[in-house]
Amino acid sequence: MFGKKRRWHCLPGQEPTELDKQVMYWENKGKLVPTRDLIKTPEQIEGIKKSGAINTGVLDEVERLVRPGMNTLEIDKICYDYCVGHGAIPACLGYEGFPKSVCTSINEVVCHGIPKVEDVLQEGDIVNVDFTTIYNGYYADASRMFVIGGKTTPEKDQLVRVAKECLEVGAEAAKPYCFVGDIGHAIQKHAEKYHYGVVRDLCGHGVGLAFHEEPEVLHYGHRGTGMLLVPGMVFTIEPMINMGTWKVFIDADDEYGWEVITGDEKPSAQWEHTFLMTEHGVEILTR
Ligand code: MF3
Ligand code: CO
Ligand code: CO
Repeated sequence: MFGKKRRWHCLPGQEPTELDKQVMYWENKGKLVPTRDLIKTPEQIEGIKKSGAINTGVLDEVERLVRPGMNTLEIDKICYDYCVGHGAIPACLGYEGFPKSVCTSINEVVCHGIPKVEDVLQEGDIVNVDFTTIYNGYYADASRMFVIGGKTTPEKDQLVRVAKECLEVGAEAAKPYCFVGDIGHAIQKHAEKYHYGVVRDLCGHGVGLAFHEEPEVLHYGHRGTGMLLVPGMVFTIEPMINMGTWKVFIDADDEYGWEVITGDEKPSAQWEHTFLMTEHGVEILTR
């Protein structure tokens, strides 16, 4: 009998390590396991950390300067200038035709909002700013919510807070040798306590040497499903949480076909960080 082609291979001429044994155990049980190229070397991790530090600087700069009356093209300029000024490249610019350096997604825009002069930030708007940095070839990806003018409705305030908690419970569920589904399950459980919808059409992802790598990090689902997560893997968790339905559409008014909006046009919130899996749990690389 010929088995399925294996994803995991031990290094030739070396004793199998604890990592090898664990991964082969799960692969033999029919689980999806990483390939060895998803395990970052210490040098690559150092590079991604440096990229993450610049990414944090970009979002801190937005936090410092954002105010009512500003348009989202001004946010784009703040991000571009800080990023390039620190020797890095904005990953979004020109990515699969994306025209700007950052995604700015206001209220019912779930993600991939395109910065434009016409989008003027109003007091009480909730805005996601999502930036990805390339530094020395290494990618780091994070996003935050901003409440414009510092105050919004209690409903939107709760949505922003719970979306952040969803990222936190997802990160807490991410233990070495767990599965991606353990993260998704924890997030879905928390969101559904509030009868919020968890977006299914978009997910987190491996990151570091490219913008979007394996695995897909679903923000919903069942424990024990999806890819095995082992020390050395780097990935994002970035739950998009909707006040109403989880269903989303591509905005017909967006000539680029990028902007994603909620099915019922109720608000949506998202937070994102890049994480390194370690022997003890995840380490955050974008703060
Ligand atoms: N930063 C987004 C993510 O979290 C991807 C944006 S792609 C772009 O994966 F082209 F819209 F910028
Ligand atoms: Co992002
Ligand atoms: Co991402």
